[in-house]
Amino acid sequence: MRAIIQNELNGPLTLTDVPKPAPLPTEVLVRVHAAGVNPVDWKTRAGGGMAGLQSFPFINGWDVSGVVEEVGFGVTTLKPGDEVYGMPRFPHAASAYAEYVTAPSRHFAKKPQSLTHVEAGALPLAALTAWQILKDTADVQPGQKVLITAAAGGVGHLAVQIAKAHGAYVIGTARGPKHAFLKDLGADEVIDYTLGDYAGNDIDVLVDLVGGSSPEAVRSGGLFVGVPSGVDSVRRDDIRISPILVEPDRAGLEAITALVESGELRVHVDATFPLEDAGKAHALGETGRTQGKIVLETL
Ligand SMILES: NC(=O)c1ccc[n+]([C@@H]2O[C@H](COP(=O)([O-])OP(=O)(O)OC[C@H]3O[C@@H](n4cnc5c(N)ncnc54)[C@H](OP(=O)(O)O)[C@@H]3O)[C@@H](O)[C@H]2O)c1
Repeated sequence: MRAIIQNELNGPLTLTDVPKPAPLPTEVLVRVHAAGVNPVDWKTRAGGGMAGLQSFPFINGWDVSGVVEEVGFGVTTLKPGDEVYGMPRFPHAASAYAEYVTAPSRHFAKKPQSLTHVEAGALPLAALTAWQILKDTADVQPGQKVLITAAAGGVGHLAVQIAKAHGAYVIGTARGPKHAFLKDLGADEVIDYTLGDYAGNDIDVLVDLVGGSSPEAVRSGGLFVGVPSGVDSVRRDDIRISPILVEPDRAGLEAITALVESGELRVHVDATFPLEDAGKAHALGETGRTQGKIVLETL
């Protein structure tokens, strides 16, 4: 099969023929149609992110949308022909920048029928991050104020909608040209962070997708979630401070599918690239200006 191989730290992403994997017991073999690109991909390529858990030759990528081609012994909930999506194996390698992946069957869920593979492939890691923060960690309630930094990016634009779906009052930060996009997603307030920060101190949940944001906006007793880099430098004794690392999660994917099918969650794909242009996709992502998601097409 064709896959994008990296042979050394920070080395080039090279299209190469490699053996097609075979599913072990409880695994499925998925023909990948689309592989979403996330910041952890380019961080890992360069030696950060999840690089410490990988070995060379390394096949990058975690987000998959595709079709089950074969099931391993013991798999009862998926069958050949099922359209699935997921973020398997994270933080270990999933090797999604390839024509096929194998992974535990329960790291996948049925793909939302209303989405193309490109759209579904854009969702898993970013949407699961947003879901696991807002639902599992914060348990956001109607009327709560949620402040999301980098709200127009991959995680942010989904977090805005997931918070709105739970009845929250949502404030998002982005540069001015992205404010119409955020309003269209349902944000109640938008802040151009280049002109200043949120002025209040009444935020119930602050989702910091930039890293290093001040927790001053959080009300006493509220929650600060540091998404990119942990929370080592955040100091406040009167609030809950939490890092997060997204986990494979079929239940979370099924909840995300339900939000998509009910029209409460849509994914914005900023750019697509053919598999062989994975390096170009990383270069675009590394500009830090992505609105929504970048996806590799692997068919
Ligand atoms: N812990 C975890 O499990 C986990 C999971 C997913 C992602 N992450 C991390 O979370 C971060 C966000 O991920 P992502 O996929 O959403 O990234 P992304 O899609 O690459 O984010 C791009 C967005 O960031 C905004 N941005 C850039 N610099 C900013 C700044 N200084 N202030 C406010 N906004 C800024 C840009 O908007 P403007 O053009 O408006 O600036 C752009 O829309 C990354 O560091 C990623 O590694 C962690």
